[in-house]
Amino acid sequence: MKIAVAIDGPAAAGKSTIAKKVALMRGFTYIDTGAMYRAFTWYCLEKGVDCQDEKACVSLIPEVNIELKPNGIVLCNGVDISKPIRGTDVSSNVSYIASYKDIRLALVKLQRKMAEKDSVIMDGRDIGTYVLPNAEVKIFQVASVETRAKRRYLENQEKGISCTYEQIFEDVQRRDHIDSTRAFSPLKKAEDAVYLDTSDLSIDEVVAIVNGIIDKKLEEIK
Ligand code: DC
Repeated sequence: MKIAVAIDGPAAAGKSTIAKKVALMRGFTYIDTGAMYRAFTWYCLEKGVDCQDEKACVSLIPEVNIELKPNGIVLCNGVDISKPIRGTDVSSNVSYIASYKDIRLALVKLQRKMAEKDSVIMDGRDIGTYVLPNAEVKIFQVASVETRAKRRYLENQEKGISCTYEQIFEDVQRRDHIDSTRAFSPLKKAEDAVYLDTSDLSIDEVVAIVNGIIDKKLEEIK
């Protein structure tokens, strides 16, 4: 049976960690929609375009070709940008890019197409509310700002990305604000999504909860 699982929530709530693990366990395709907004941001920066200039960024849509490979590699026009899209330059500009309606529409079209064939776990901000409103399972995954900033800081350290905890804390707060107040398709819990606060849970505990929700749904629709 083909199903779609939507995991939405604020920056650094651990959505991709959980989605990747559950996808691997169940043989679902994992789709990281944040990586697509990051890839677009990377391209604007690469072209020297100001990310706060909506018109200039939107004008680049026809020349941007983003691909997500099954091994987690992100390509932009054939170039592997998996590492630079996690850097601070992209992270601090991506919310501007993600607030532009035309860019969202172009990327959402791609996301829906990717979900047509196989069972998917897609993570982002508007998957349950806008991209896949009919997803069989919807989860809204959150954690406190402190927890999220700490997790992202440790993750960056492991990856050798230089930053301070204070920088990350401020960036997470700023992105929460931009993502949840933008006019088009803001970060919001879908009415039928399960609210899951992971502040005091381990990765394995969250994986078990999400798997339990999926199992229950599969049982219902069998
Ligand atoms: O999940 P992430 O941190 O990689 O996402 C990067 C940015 O992209 C984030 O600031 C919000 C935006 N985003 C979005 O607006 N809609 C999505 N479906 C996914 C991400």
